[in-house]
Amino acid sequence: MISEKMQERLNKAIKLEFDSSYLYLSMAAYCESIAFDGFARWMRAQSAEEWGHGMRVYEYLGDQQARVVLHGIDQPKREWSSVVEVFEETLTHEKKVTAAYHDLMAYAQETKDYATQSFLQWFIHEQVEEEATAAGILDKLRMVKDRPQGLLYMDSHVGKREFSAPTAASSD
Ligand code: FEO
Repeated sequence: MISEKMQERLNKAIKLEFDSSYLYLSMAAYCESIAFDGFARWMRAQSAEEWGHGMRVYEYLGDQQARVVLHGIDQPKREWSSVVEVFEETLTHEKKVTAAYHDLMAYAQETKDYATQSFLQWFIHEQVEEEATAAGILDKLRMVKDRPQGLLYMDSHVGKREFSAPTAASSD
């Protein structure tokens, strides 16, 4: 069993992950609107991954006999000026998520909630990877941003990311 305060914080973490999922889906729609289908696919994969992160917290609350309380998902931004700006915002957003998990871990330590500390460890590691991936793509995008051929190469390269998000076809 976990404390009520910890339940509240974990419910907010679910919202943060679902907000992230929605933000990346909106970025996917933007990338598609400017014919960067590879970046759009990467963002859809990211969106699906974030949804999975939210569900990880959801399931942990269930395992702890705690109540899941869903908050509203924020309406995401819908326009950006370029794919460079999209990845700048991705990195900024991931840093915000990292800070939120660090706060959550600090709280779990202060309150001697050992089970939640152990649960959060996965997210702390995951955030290192999430930031590194976004920063890596952003660095390369900045190198090629004024060269259409470079951007098209990157679009095709990042579009190779594998994922199995639900599609309209898979709902038949
Ligand atoms: Fe689940 Fe990218 O934070």
